[in-house]
Amino acid sequence: MVQIGNIQLPDFPLLLAPMEDVSDPPFRVVCKANGADLVFTEFISSEGLIRDAIRCRRKLDIFDEERPTGIQLFGGDEARLALAAKIVDVTQPELLDINFGCPVKGIVAQGAGSGVLRDINLMVRLTEACVKSTSLPVTVKTRLGWDDDSKNIEEVAERLQDVGIKALTIHGRTRCQLYKGEADWSLIAKVKNNPRIHIPIFGNGDINSAQKALEYKNRYGVDGIMVGRAAIGYPWIFREIRHYLQTGEQLPAPTVGERVAVCKEQLRKSLQWKGPVAGVYSMRKQYFQYLKGLPGIKDFRTQLVTSTEPEVIYAVLDEILVRYNGFEMERTPIELVNYHENCPL
Ligand SMILES: Cc1cc2nc3c(=O)[nH]c(=O)nc-3n(C[C@H](O)[C@H](O)[C@H](O)COP(=O)(O)O)c2cc1C
Repeated sequence: MVQIGNIQLPDFPLLLAPMEDVSDPPFRVVCKANGADLVFTEFISSEGLIRDAIRCRRKLDIFDEERPTGIQLFGGDEARLALAAKIVDVTQPELLDINFGCPVKGIVAQGAGSGVLRDINLMVRLTEACVKSTSLPVTVKTRLGWDDDSKNIEEVAERLQDVGIKALTIHGRTRCQLYKGEADWSLIAKVKNNPRIHIPIFGNGDINSAQKALEYKNRYGVDGIMVGRAAIGYPWIFREIRHYLQTGEQLPAPTVGERVAVCKEQLRKSLQWKGPVAGVYSMRKQYFQYLKGLPGIKDFRTQLVTSTEPEVIYAVLDEILVRYNGFEMERTPIELVNYHENCPL
């Protein structure tokens, strides 16, 4: 069992990563239903919450079926972050996570996200302020360091543990790497193997198959794994990893029927939660993986990502079901999209 504060998770928990505009309640619910043990909201601006920005408040919504859920905050000012932590406390997630990993220029410029990696003292003060201000367990998600010459995660881990965080997730890249190259988990393993560290250490970066999850579990000895991009349109990644860890066998790929059913379920929940316009838009990132591997699917997919009417989208999904009835899905590799390819540093 892995313990985060008073939350008990199974051995080697599988975490759904916080992802902006992706990790919303409907998506978190389908990931939970397919094996995620702990899910996170996308990052939420502490300033936005304090100013009561409606969009930010909405991001605090949690559906009962998705729990346990961590709400993720970002901010570069101690007092403001602590105040936002108090607001989060009232909404009763299972935990509060602080984002010290976002590489996007606008966030870094506010002295938040991975910008804080250049100033560990500030990072420690921000974290301590949060820990003191909330009754929730506080966790942190960060990267290896700012750039190749300043990979300070070992010191960061010790100091954040000392001010009271209950778990640490490390994405095996530096801020300056954005998403380039392969995630390097060797430093994550070093943090995990530090005898001073007693909180759970979760590894993150580039897990896109059950085999890779097992390989990294064995090679790097982390307490659990966080999966981001590979879950988009493929929430089954969690149950596939769990099954493989337990049996050494690969589950069969989800059938066309399962794919359409789960996709519809996510769409239905998105429409309910976001309304007919935003609900339709928010699903567009998901269809690619949901339907990948079906020969000749392109035209259907184009209709799904261009239609604005929910009824049309449901009808296209039903048509897919009929067209591919009995088709035997083969497993296709999950491609990891480089989201911040053109992001200015
Ligand atoms: C579209 C997108 C949005 C993201 N938004 C966040 C975020 O809000 N907070 C955060 O800590 N990380 C965010 N990330 C980073 C992921 O949580 C994760 O660390 C990263 O994608 C590496 O994991 P992966 O290789 O499993 O995708 C985002 C990543 C993507 C692709």
